[in-house]
Amino acid sequence: MASTRRTILKTGGAAVIIAAGAGWALTRAPKEAREPWRAAADGFGDVRLDALAYAILAPNPHNMQPWRIELKDDGLAFTIHCDLDRLLPETDPPNRQITIGFGCFLELFRQAAAEKGLLAEFDYFPDGEPWPTLDERPIAHVRLLEGARVPRDPLFGEVLNRRTNRAPFDESRTIESSALDAINAASVSGIDAGATTDLVLVEELRALAVDAWTAEWSNAATRRESIEVTRIGKREINADPWGLALAGPLMEGINAVGLLTREEMDVTGSTSYEQSLEFYNKACRTAAAFAWTTTATNTRRDQLEAGRAWVRMQLAANAAGIAFHPLSQALQEFPVMAPHYEKAHQLLAGGDGRTVQMLVRLGYAKAPPPAPREALTAKLIEV
Ligand SMILES: Cc1cc2nc3c(=O)[nH]c(=O)nc-3n(C[C@H](O)[C@H](O)[C@H](O)COP(=O)(O)O)c2cc1C
Repeated sequence: MASTRRTILKTGGAAVIIAAGAGWALTRAPKEAREPWRAAADGFGDVRLDALAYAILAPNPHNMQPWRIELKDDGLAFTIHCDLDRLLPETDPPNRQITIGFGCFLELFRQAAAEKGLLAEFDYFPDGEPWPTLDERPIAHVRLLEGARVPRDPLFGEVLNRRTNRAPFDESRTIESSALDAINAASVSGIDAGATTDLVLVEELRALAVDAWTAEWSNAATRRESIEVTRIGKREINADPWGLALAGPLMEGINAVGLLTREEMDVTGSTSYEQSLEFYNKACRTAAAFAWTTTATNTRRDQLEAGRAWVRMQLAANAAGIAFHPLSQALQEFPVMAPHYEKAHQLLAGGDGRTVQMLVRLGYAKAPPPAPREALTAKLIEV
């Protein structure tokens, strides 16, 4: 007899029991959307594509994957452009976070190339820095150089296991300062990294993260931007393997009974709305430590370098068994966020005009499965 798995969801005063056959539950993984993680490990038999297969696994805001890759004929170079249809104008008006995502992409490309003994040479914004927003101009020209005797990067071993972890963290565990030192040491030149387990500051940052997420979710335009790219369940995730994915039998179950739908998420006070708010806020309150980065200026180049530092610090956290969850809300540049932005800069940048590029909570939690990715071939363009 097929066994049945029961999940109890508490919603307001009521409790809903969602029952599902265990066999069914096991079939809900969006396997096709996770295929690029396996494809990277398998390789394409071409050094440039092999390294690009890792680059597309980079962390990036809302998993928008705005990469447009123009391969050059010589087999060793490419130009990377931004897909301007994959921006987040409400939550990321100056495209600062999207640019950071490109820095993460370039760093993973660099590490993957180094594995094969190739040096990746970057020419950032060869036609000038696009301001106030990104435009048609390329993000970078990239060239692989052979025979440069480039060392392998020990962080590369973590690339396929790297995850953004939005789960509540284990509140009984603290983080050793040596682990925080290792995470900060992974940053790159020009990007200052900080971290704390100080209870007073951690508590202030938890409260800031909760206030900032509440501000973002309560604001219709930013909330809708996220809802529009949210996919619920295997079918939607496999069909569009980019954007925010709510995967797994529980998500599909509560979606099927109408407790979690995109339409309802946008209705203030509905279960879907409140669950989305509370899920994230609950997670923020379990931060064991925080890490952040700052830059003296805020050029597009700084943002790319901040992205390189970002993914390196995440890989270092992974190596130490520490879960890593960016909480970017308070760093965002839309009007409703202004008081939280100011508070974040007061707390983390010492009020000396530096820009906070990254804020993450750290702690211990089981790693989630890999996030969806579009196939590398879907990201190659001809111009
Ligand atoms: C610049 C930047 C900002 C991000 N901000 C957040 C955030 O505020 N909250 C969050 O849950 N994830 C955030 N992320 C993580 C992305 O959502 C995540 O990388 C993406 O969904 C892909 O998942 P993966 O990192 O597990 O591959 C951010 C990532 C980047 C690069």
